[in-house]
Amino acid sequence: AERPYVIDEMISAKSIAARIEALAHEIAGEFAGTDKLVVVGLLRGSFVFIADLVRELDLPVEVDFLEASSYGNAMESSREVRILKDLRGEIEGRDVLVVEDIVDTGHTLAHVMTLLRARRPRRLRSIALLDKPTRREVEIHADWTGFEIPDEFVVGYGIDYAQHNRNLPYIGKVRFV
Ligand code: PRP
Ligand code: MN
Ligand code: MG
Repeated sequence: AERPYVIDEMISAKSIAARIEALAHEIAGEFAGTDKLVVVGLLRGSFVFIADLVRELDLPVEVDFLEASSYGNAMESSREVRILKDLRGEIEGRDVLVVEDIVDTGHTLAHVMTLLRARRPRRLRSIALLDKPTRREVEIHADWTGFEIPDEFVVGYGIDYAQHNRNLPYIGKVRFV
């Protein structure tokens, strides 16, 4: 069972939207002229971010998903990344953008990037809405980051605590009471 907690707002829905608009412009610049960008959301956490991001992207886009899980219901990373659902499409020779909600220890994104690089995409980039650099265990950083945050347990905007709170429209931090 979970300990009782409250959620304090950390990044408002408005600041997230403004940041995504700026990031989308940078990404559109990087991939300008692409025939079709394959935007890959890492389930489940990135489902809200990818939905908002692709709607700001002025590019021909294909959306695909890959499900990787390392936390389960725990607060600590298992460091063992399991692929629960693979991409539907082929990415060989394609432009690919991996979309992640948060980079914490880095195990999930590192694992996924290695897996996808082996499939020989033309360009492979990554974006994470949140980055907790102080928690890193493997050397990896996303090509674009929305916000660097301190080592707080965050929820909302797709991110869960034991599968709860993904539907909050803002990023909040969990405070045990
Ligand atoms: C969370 C989060 C990232 C990953 C980051 O996913 O959504 O994908 O952990 O942690 P890391 O950098 O330490 O690997 P989780 O495994 O909880 O699955 P979920 O997205 O389905 O919630
Ligand atoms: Mn995740
Ligand atoms: Mg999770």
